[in-house]
Amino acid sequence: MKQKLVVLSGAGISAESGLKTFRDSDGLWEGYRVEDVATLAAWYADMKMVLDFYNMRRKNVLEAEPNQAHLLLKELEERYEVKIITQNVDNLHERARSTNILHLHGIITQAKSTFDDKLIYSIDGWEMKMGDRCEYGSQLRPNIVWFGEAVPNIEPAIKIVEEADILLVIGTSLQVYPAAGLIKYFSNQKPLYVIDPKQIPISRTKNIYFLAAKASEGMQQLIKILDN
Ligand code: OAD
Repeated sequence: MKQKLVVLSGAGISAESGLKTFRDSDGLWEGYRVEDVATLAAWYADMKMVLDFYNMRRKNVLEAEPNQAHLLLKELEERYEVKIITQNVDNLHERARSTNILHLHGIITQAKSTFDDKLIYSIDGWEMKMGDRCEYGSQLRPNIVWFGEAVPNIEPAIKIVEEADILLVIGTSLQVYPAAGLIKYFSNQKPLYVIDPKQIPISRTKNIYFLAAKASEGMQQLIKILDN
């Protein structure tokens, strides 16, 4: 049976595809205030502005391509049962053909009803407009989990992490909960790999291996380590 390799990915894995991270010096939250674009309050204050913000993000995602890190994760499926838990709202893991992906914060290529959030629609192209409505006539919003909203996929994510044999944390600053808290569900008897050019805070001393590199270089290093 294949070992279970679980991946917690964040914005850094898509940086080499040209998508901005959030908290780096040129990151998205340098140019925007979270409260203005990524909360329910922001939505009710100015829906058009919020739609425009995510339209630009969607346009960037559609123009981007998966990079080597996404592709190497797909390749690892030949040897491991790979499960990806991503905080990213882009679809680059999907486009790299990874088969098992759980989005914690939603996905930007989908819209959801503001009347019934179980009504999800895929978006054709990059633009959502005022007046785009669900079948009950309510305005559609991006299918993104905003700050202050529940993270419905956290329970399945916890289970996946608990069952992992190997955990890889890649391209996330681990600043946002509950996602950042997932690590504590991983056995400290098993190896945790962290790929990030910067040091990130993880309170674990045993069985932790930091690969201080960009995502694609870090993935190459990881594969060499796993091969030994
Ligand atoms: P952050 O922007 O907080 O962190 C990105 C991480 O990627 C940092 O640790 C960087 O050092 C690292 N990084 C930068 N370039 C990299 C590269 N080329 N290769 C590998 N790593 C690189 O992004 P997240 O941790 O993903 O939520 O942010 C978590 C959540 O906060 C997001 O999902 C988003 C945001 O607000 C929502 O939108 C709900």
